Amino acid sequence: MTKPQIWVAAFLGMFILLFFIQKLTTPTEAMPNMTINSSPVEEQVNQDLTGAELIKQFGCLSCHGQNLEGTKMGPALADLKKHWNRDELINYLRNPNSFMDTERFVEYKKQYTKSIMPGYSNKDVKDLGKIADYLLKK
Ligand code: HEC
Repeated sequence: MTKPQIWVAAFLGMFILLFFIQKLTTPTEAMPNMTINSSPVEEQVNQDLTGAELIKQFGCLSCHGQNLEGTKMGPALADLKKHWNRDELINYLRNPNSFMDTERFVEYKKQYTKSIMPGYSNKDVKDLGKIADYLLKK
């Protein structure tokens, strides 16, 4: 082999080596998600978050307060089990507007004129379920 050929061979050898090293190291991290859950990447990121963490991540606290004690932008989220069961609460989070006619919400509308509860129908229902579980336990 000429000198340039030796260099090319050396480089190729390095790439092949790197390729196999990568093959050996990645599966251990990628496997659990790939086998258990084939949903899109974005949902997998939320997979391990608790209801409390999701509430933080989805920005609920900015209106409902750091400890869900309520702010000028939104009511306290306390004693929700008096008013909701799990399915209803998930439906509410997905589409708050459809609950606006009840007396409680007519009151809210008067009280919170500057903000309304946004809908979260773009979120994974599983995540909303975790949030509902968390809120109903409080
Ligand atoms: C922009 C401010 C804002 C954000 C962000 C927000 N909310 Fe609200 N939320 C409100 C307001 C205001 C109400 C009262 C109803 C209304 O006027 O729309 C409300 C009502 C509620 C209620 C009903 C309370 C009751 O007494 O039954 C729940 C439950 C709730 N929000 C949960 C959440 C969750 C969970 C999140 C995050 C995923 C969230 N909110 C994000 C403003 C907000």
